[in-house]
Amino acid sequence: MVGKRDMEPTAPRTGPRHVAIIMDGNGRWAQKRGRPRLFGHHAGARRVREIVSSCPEFGVKYLTIFAFSTENWKRTQTEVAGLMSLFRRYIMKEMQAFVKENVRVRFIGDRPRLDAKLRGLMDEAEEMTVGCTGTNLTIALNYGGRDEVTRATKRLARDVAEGRLHPDDVDEETLPRYLDTCVLPDPDLVIRTSGEARISNFLLWQSAYAEYEFIDTLWPDFTPDIFDGLLRGYGTRDRRFGAVSA
Ligand code: FPP
Repeated sequence: MVGKRDMEPTAPRTGPRHVAIIMDGNGRWAQKRGRPRLFGHHAGARRVREIVSSCPEFGVKYLTIFAFSTENWKRTQTEVAGLMSLFRRYIMKEMQAFVKENVRVRFIGDRPRLDAKLRGLMDEAEEMTVGCTGTNLTIALNYGGRDEVTRATKRLARDVAEGRLHPDDVDEETLPRYLDTCVLPDPDLVIRTSGEARISNFLLWQSAYAEYEFIDTLWPDFTPDIFDGLLRGYGTRDRRFGAVSA
């Protein structure tokens, strides 16, 4: 079958450089099929692979995905354990492919609460792809925007207390240097799947001027064609960053 992407002429892209995605709807996708929620998470993981692979073609240089939030620990023990096991297996299974596809992998979030095996794999993945210059994939694991700002503030306060930073030098350029995302540009476009129109503590500081797309599609149904459509839509938006149009 010929997809929409194949039919359209190749035009120069003015799409977003950094896209962040809240991958929601795995549970409902599974429930609709009478299957356990983890079945949906596994289907969601397969979509991640496809979407990451489509980034070079679509001109997306940075992709940041919300895999597990600081609030997700409130889920059942079975679901949390299943997700942690999925993340471990995912990293082990996908690493070679990421290296081959020149994908630089990074993780953001509070690591100490994650188990040692997973943390080791995360370190390994980051080290293995450190020389990759293609897509920058950032996986948010045990991530919360407020938690990130709190941790950043703590480090900044320590630098002030120990004389490495003067309070008068704290400005909008200083704080982001303490965030987990310090080496990343701010997201241009944030997508949330599954019909919920909220940002759920994702990249709070970084998304101050991002465009948002809330779409009904459940994450396991999110195809590269749908991704492409949203990216093309972004190209028609007028981002003013608080100024007026020229
Ligand atoms: C939200 O759907 C999804 C999550 C909390 C987990 C996201 C994880 C994946 C997409 C799987 C794999 C990711 C990687 C990086 C391997 P939900 O469970 O809240 O769905 P619901 O709102 O329908 O219940």
